[in-house]
Amino acid sequence: MDIVRTVAALRAAVSGWKAEGLRVALTPTMGALHAGHLSLVEIGLREADRVAATLFVNPTQFGAGEDLAAYPRDEAADAAMLAGAGCGLLYAPDAGEMYPPGFATQVRVTGLTDVLCGAARPGHFDGVAQVVTKYLNQAQADVAIFGEKDWQQLAVIRRLAADLDIPTRILGAPIVREADGLAMSSRNRYLSAAERAAAPALCAAIRRAATRIAAGATPAEACGEAARALTEAGFPPPDYVEARDAASLAAIDGFDPARPARVFAAARLGRARLIDNVEIA
Ligand code: PAF
Repeated sequence: MDIVRTVAALRAAVSGWKAEGLRVALTPTMGALHAGHLSLVEIGLREADRVAATLFVNPTQFGAGEDLAAYPRDEAADAAMLAGAGCGLLYAPDAGEMYPPGFATQVRVTGLTDVLCGAARPGHFDGVAQVVTKYLNQAQADVAIFGEKDWQQLAVIRRLAADLDIPTRILGAPIVREADGLAMSSRNRYLSAAERAAAPALCAAIRRAATRIAAGATPAEACGEAARALTEAGFPPPDYVEARDAASLAAIDGFDPARPARVFAAARLGRARLIDNVEIA
């Protein structure tokens, strides 16, 4: 697996593949890789002939007081995992390559970013939209794959790709979970042993809420119960537990089998902020 650090080298590699008639998948990451990321590569290899991964801890998507400095960085370990999964190219730019002096362009997706993590982390999705727009333009891949754990991020990316006429197909990848249900996340490594033992309560609480809503409970009732279950499991009051339309992220007031909807939650546990979501079905 080659490692490149410039837009020019990324473009040269991708256009070389395309000149051979190969289809290219892009899997953007911030490193600290786990099996969820490797599933993106696996899906990329099903959807295309070659996979290019990105590795860049994007500073513009971290707010003041968030974990930018502490975010785990181990390029050698990440590169070995990607190569083992069949990734063909690693694009690992530095901040100067991504945001050179004079950089002044913002990308903001409105509406979808007002709720859930957008409300809890002001500016976060502006940074995500900015960096992902750049990756899509830089790589010009046929398909780009993003994990469904960050469902709202995926919705924002689908919106910006459609609105800005970016031809790369955007594909969601199912959440990969630990055996006890905890959604895999780079931030799980912040959890102490006791916090790790409590963490699966997040998934359990939203699964129960989704089942209750599908059986006729109101979202307010079921999500309120889930928030109480989290507190009982040792979490502080969660940032949110909410049932929303899967595409528009509008709040729902009940289950409609014709309109896909999900229960979303975010909660802090020690140094980690955990997010998760499940389908209501
Ligand atoms: O999901 C992530 O890891 C990041 O938000 C992304 C999409 C790589 C942009 O930095």
